[in-house]
Amino acid sequence: MTARPAVRVRAPGKINLTLCVGAPAADGYHPLETVFQAVSLYEDVVARPAEGITLEIQGRGADLPTDGTNLAVRAAALLREASGTEAGVHLTLTKTVPVAGGMAGGSADAAATLLACDQLWGTGLGREELGALAAELGADVPFSLTGMSAMGTGHGDLLTPVMSRGSYHWVLAVQAEGLSTPSVFREFDRLGGHEPAGEGRPPTGATASLVPALLTADPLVLARHLRNDLQEAALGLRPALGDVLAAADRAGALAAIVSGSGPTVAALALDAQHAASVADVMRAADVAAEVLTVSGPVAGARVLEQVNAR
Ligand code: C5P
Repeated sequence: MTARPAVRVRAPGKINLTLCVGAPAADGYHPLETVFQAVSLYEDVVARPAEGITLEIQGRGADLPTDGTNLAVRAAALLREASGTEAGVHLTLTKTVPVAGGMAGGSADAAATLLACDQLWGTGLGREELGALAAELGADVPFSLTGMSAMGTGHGDLLTPVMSRGSYHWVLAVQAEGLSTPSVFREFDRLGGHEPAGEGRPPTGATASLVPALLTADPLVLARHLRNDLQEAALGLRPALGDVLAAADRAGALAAIVSGSGPTVAALALDAQHAASVADVMRAADVAAEVLTVSGPVAGARVLEQVNAR
């Protein structure tokens, strides 16, 4: 028998440039209006033919569960069910996006797995059907598939592409210990963070002013429009993030925000050279386990290569 090909797929992490949160609905989910930017920090998935669905993890998160609770395994199982295939897969996941860091690393794993298994099994599902499966797996998974810049409404899963010019340079302060997204939303509710006039709907002003800022290609303009309604809740659960934001400010960042539900802090720089110098100063401030530089927007999940299975 000739070896069937293996497939390597790469999917990016994200930063929320705005994250406007309304009051929770009856299902406990919060209506959102958010603008995502995919950034150059990636999860790689190699899918090889196998019996059943198995997973190994390299890089960050090597201690994460590899059983049916892992979002990558759930993605493969969901696609197998939806497509009716009996084929299996062995997934090798190489993580560089911080675990539970507010950058949708787990969602990128799921998106990469959907695309890799789709190719490996030849399911013939289009991007739209994969997008619907992605939304079943988690609110951020559809964006990990599409990448670039997009506005998310609903749970963050209903996407509209957003035009953006130029490339933005960020410094990421990564913490050793993640934050659980549900607990940050619970803290947001406890603080009564949503605006009462919103009647459950998220406020819309921040996104309306951020979208044109992305057309200027000017980070100084973008810096004035960043907003994260979950930031106060993340700071409530992790007060030390205040030191990270202050360190970014002292290091000369144009602006700094908590990414998504945190605890990663994203600090905006003028260009790549400025990002490198802000990163050096933040490393010296010793407020994060790791300080990285990335740029965005970048493409969503994409097939890198079809490699021969060993
Ligand atoms: O959809 P996902 O599994 O990524 O969401 C993780 C958790 O974050 C949800 O279980 C929910 O507690 C919270 N969440 C929310 N409102 C959203 C998205 C997520 O309350 N729009």
